[in-house]
Amino acid sequence: MAEPNQVSADLAGPILRLEGVRKSFGKKVITEVLHGIDLAVQPGEFVAMVGPSGAGKSTLLNLVGLLDRPTSGRIFLDGTDTSTLDDAGLTRFRGEKIGFVFQHHHLLPAFTTLENVMMPLLVHRGSPDDEMRERARQLLVRVGLEDKIGAMASDLSGGQQQRVAVARALAMHPPLVLADEPTGNLDTHAADQVFDLLREFNQEYRGAFVIVTHDTRLASRCDRIVAIVDGVIESDVRKNPEGAVLPPGGAGVPPNPAGTSGEPLTPGA
Ligand SMILES: Nc1ncnc2c1ncn2[C@@H]1O[C@H](COP(=O)(O)OP(=O)(O)OP(=O)(O)O)[C@@H](O)[C@H]1O
Ligand SMILES: [Mg+2]
Repeated sequence: MAEPNQVSADLAGPILRLEGVRKSFGKKVITEVLHGIDLAVQPGEFVAMVGPSGAGKSTLLNLVGLLDRPTSGRIFLDGTDTSTLDDAGLTRFRGEKIGFVFQHHHLLPAFTTLENVMMPLLVHRGSPDDEMRERARQLLVRVGLEDKIGAMASDLSGGQQQRVAVARALAMHPPLVLADEPTGNLDTHAADQVFDLLREFNQEYRGAFVIVTHDTRLASRCDRIVAIVDGVIESDVRKNPEGAVLPPGGAGVPPNPAGTSGEPLTPGA
């Protein structure tokens, strides 16, 4: 059985690439929500996705997360054209390559925190073993919930539940983690804790993260900010590690001497 992913920073090519991705809803009245998205995310990138309500952020994240298929265009994940996969193939691929953190934690309330974190490993390997339990335990220690390992998920606070959800999303060391407003239901302190965890794991495992957020303060702490407005990418801004905004072209290009405040472009947020 395959082991959880070993993410290497020097993988050839982007972990995620979108080419002309469009998405429409409706049968009689067809509404196009995404109008041709081109986007590449490199291994280890820590990306915020911002934009006004209804812009299409969750729609895009669901497509990238292989929970839905584009109406047209292609999504390459770790080099694989996902349009070539059937539904079973998509499900398997999703389990191996993608970790999810949603606004609502979606934990299974009748299971312990340990069992919840073990769930992706269990789906992958079929039956529980000691190595799996130990991995889940270590993750819970890492998210500061050692004393809650035997607790039922329903007995935790909102912030604690979201930290369990982060541990669960990372159990497979996925090369791509998607988070849709992971701090949306949390107070500032709990939001900071969850965000810090995502960042720590990003730096540790070099997994790429795409985080949808309305929180401009958190977005400004990401390496790159992609703004979606009315179903198109309105801006895509990278920063260097010192926080200065890089011109289009990204890392490796000298920072723009003008306007290097590091302030992100966050329309409508
Ligand atoms: N399953 C669906 N059927 C029909 N329309 C949909 C569906 N999913 C999303 N939409 C529409 O697509 C548009 C974009 O929705 P989406 O949820 O992606 O926005 P969002 O940017 O995530 O907004 P928010 O910040 O409020 O979460 C909205 O107009 C929404 O009504
Ligand atoms: Mg949304």
